[in-house]
Amino acid sequence: MLDFTAMRATLAEVYDLTPSVELASSMADIHAKMDRVIPFPDFVRYAPYIAAINKLKAEKNAVILAHNYMTPEIYHGVADVVGDSLQLAIEATKVEADIIVQCGVHFMAETSKILNPAKTVLIPDVEAGCSLAESITAEGIAQMRARYPGAPVVSYVNTTAEVKAASDICCTSSNAAQIVAALPEETIIMTPDQYLAQNVANMVPQKKIVWWEGSCIVHEQYTPEDINDFRAMNPGTMIIAHPECPPDVVDACDYSGSTSGIIDYVTTNKPAKAMLVTECSMASNISDALPEIEFTGPCNMCPYMKKITLEKILWALHTGSEAVEVDPEVAGKARVAVERMIELSKAVAK
Ligand code: 13P
Ligand code: SF4
Repeated sequence: MLDFTAMRATLAEVYDLTPSVELASSMADIHAKMDRVIPFPDFVRYAPYIAAINKLKAEKNAVILAHNYMTPEIYHGVADVVGDSLQLAIEATKVEADIIVQCGVHFMAETSKILNPAKTVLIPDVEAGCSLAESITAEGIAQMRARYPGAPVVSYVNTTAEVKAASDICCTSSNAAQIVAALPEETIIMTPDQYLAQNVANMVPQKKIVWWEGSCIVHEQYTPEDINDFRAMNPGTMIIAHPECPPDVVDACDYSGSTSGIIDYVTTNKPAKAMLVTECSMASNISDALPEIEFTGPCNMCPYMKKITLEKILWALHTGSEAVEVDPEVAGKARVAVERMIELSKAVAK
């Protein structure tokens, strides 16, 4: 557990974190990437942290991999690479710097460590968990195998290293349907997201998919009534859902895709109005790059993703903590499942 008082006192001694209009004005190029969503007075508070983090990153030979759900000041201010879970996993394999600071949730940091074990992987808050990752253990995988003998286990990357190690192959929201379709068996076990599994079952009807009953606390909150009511009141809005939403919600929307799939879809289609049925920072992060689109409608916040802040990133770089460690034997088995996914995704993309 972070001691905020001690952390703030130490950071204030070492770095000049006083809000500065002059510094913020000198960083106008960075602010321009988010000025539709971050007013200048707020940027004045963020600027000293952004400057300190970017300087420390260079001094310590570190890179920041940030998920699409990070807040705009992280996404545009300090990230070296942004993306969805699959993109971040692929990028982790290519990192040459000594340190990876994973701005996302714990399973993402573990995945980076599994794929690039020689690097130090820091997570700015170890309590940045995930309701899906917490919903299943390796024992749960064993139970599913006992119930469906011979069926391969496809585990979402939103799982712990132990669960990945007990699985045959991983998937992300961007490749789940292709992975399932490419497996030779007819019955496939998907864990731990029941809704992703049901959405994949609709896309790959030739397979019998059985699932674990986990869910994402952000996406399970949406209902088809929400979508239909919103559409009735806001005609002409393009409505796009993440596949962690229940299938009746996905059915009520115009498109469903991974977080990067959603970004690509609105960027290509440029609707006048769009509602992203996912985490709130998604629309904020792409708002300035797509000024012709009015992002509207309700969104839900992921309390785990929101644990990552500029202050904690600076602290992680300053102290070199928390470093994510994975037992080498577990990491070895988990790597097989993640690398199989990456290879299969690349083969399907060709
Ligand atoms: P993506 O792989 O689509 O980025 O999803 C990760 C996630 O946790 C969404 O809730
Ligand atoms: Fe996990 Fe849902 Fe948060 Fe994604 S949005 S990290 S699936 S709890």
